Amino acid sequence: MARDLTAEPLFPTDEIQGDILVGLLKKSEKLVFFRIVDSAAFAAFLHDLQITSMQDCLDQRAAVAASKATGSTALLSTPGLNVAFTQAGLAALGVGGLDSDSTFGKGMAASATDLADPDPATWKVLRPGGDPVHGVFLVAGATEAEVDNTIALRLAPAGANGWDHVATEVGTVRPEPVAGHEHFGYADGVSQPAVRGRIAPGAALDPTVGPDPDQAEPGRDLLWPGEFLFGYPAQDPAAADLTIKGPVQEPPIPLMANGAFLVFRRLAQRVPEFDLSVKEAAASQIDPAASDPASADLLGAQMVGRWKSGAALINAPRADDPSTADGTPDVNAFEFDGDREGLVCPWGAHIRKAYPRDDVRHDVDPAPGDVPRAEAFTQTHRMMRRGIAFGPELKQEEALTGTTTEERGLLFACYVTDLFDQFEFVQRFWINDADFVQPESGVDPLIGQGANDVLPFRGAAPFSKNLGRKPNVNLNRFVHMEGGEYFFAPSIPAIRSFK
Ligand code: HEM
Repeated sequence: MARDLTAEPLFPTDEIQGDILVGLLKKSEKLVFFRIVDSAAFAAFLHDLQITSMQDCLDQRAAVAASKATGSTALLSTPGLNVAFTQAGLAALGVGGLDSDSTFGKGMAASATDLADPDPATWKVLRPGGDPVHGVFLVAGATEAEVDNTIALRLAPAGANGWDHVATEVGTVRPEPVAGHEHFGYADGVSQPAVRGRIAPGAALDPTVGPDPDQAEPGRDLLWPGEFLFGYPAQDPAAADLTIKGPVQEPPIPLMANGAFLVFRRLAQRVPEFDLSVKEAAASQIDPAASDPASADLLGAQMVGRWKSGAALINAPRADDPSTADGTPDVNAFEFDGDREGLVCPWGAHIRKAYPRDDVRHDVDPAPGDVPRAEAFTQTHRMMRRGIAFGPELKQEEALTGTTTEERGLLFACYVTDLFDQFEFVQRFWINDADFVQPESGVDPLIGQGANDVLPFRGAAPFSKNLGRKPNVNLNRFVHMEGGEYFFAPSIPAIRSFK
């Protein structure tokens, strides 16, 4: 059956902040954390603040696409500014009625034990007990100069506008040819949830371009928008099929309609240690008599579930394949049903842990009806990722010594409507659980959290398909969580309504 667009909600694109469903265009981004020092002055400032809406983001993207279509390589100006608040920040602006005992109300530090995060007292950024953080300005642009210009034009002077600067995190997209790749070298931002809904009466936010009316591009299942925006129908975890519309995701208070929670985590990456350790681990697995030699490239791809180009292991089991890489139509066209034993893509691979698609927990031979049900459940644990890399490129001395001397990593960010059931669920019950999706899968080798700094990783055996030849290695921890917080990104009218 063709997709019935009239059954999908029409978004008020001028009212929704642009980063949530479309994403601020960014080659550079600063996260400016603030505290409110004068609520009345700050509310007046917010009333007139130029905030980048979903419509602005759509227009910017259309302008960039039109410019590229002419063959131009000009870097267009794409200034963007969004704002999000902690619960303390909302309270300072007079917003009442929020539960102080909720995941949002308590803040990320309160979840540290459950998430197996480092002790918040040791966090490098947003450490509890320091200056209170009431919110964050997300300022994005085509260059750092453009970002600083936007800060000067729209946010300054802080004091006169009722806010005070607490901290800034500086994100930078890596240079060509690795733009869009995170610091370990893998294409990032490849798989995002596709969202049902219209940006104009006859225009879908995520148009269907393949043969399946329930997907956008092949492999990108269309989800009901309540997963990422309050006030819209969401997915039903118990549905017989993921296409079935669930109940409306009601905002905790009416002011939160057309808004979403924002998760922020600073994740430091030890790149030279990663490279060296993956090389050594792969070498330890080489059996000269075997027809399926391991290589560092293959082991790395098994840890992520994709090659550095973005090509999924499931589509390219033996070697990286540009025909299914990032930017090609089939980059997300895969499920795990042909690989229930984890012989091609390890169960522990980052993308299989973070989004197990049609995997069925603890069942390598599920009955047909179990698979759609498993997928419907999985689709209630997705997130709209909006992270950006931070820190410089690897230096030669670091590469040669295998030792990090410069701080770099990922400013992880994502939007959800349920902090517990989406971000926390995935980190706790999938990524950190050594028995998800199958017993002894191991924790996620990229971002599994826990006290143990050595992570056992069971790879796959793509050539021989021999269960006994799954690489079994111990890897060090290469990603360290250095602090974070939960925020809420309200609608633009809600921001204008603060008194
Ligand atoms: C430094 C830390 C991290 C690195 C290096 C990293 C790297 C990657 C890479 C290379 C991909 C595959 C490309 C893509 O689909 O975008 C990916 C996908 C993904 N990551 Fe991460 N990631 C990190 C942190 C996180 C965190 C903290 C979460 C959430 C708890 C997360 C959740 C996901 C999800 C949901 C996907 C998409 C899976 C899919 O749809 O196939 N990542 N990540």
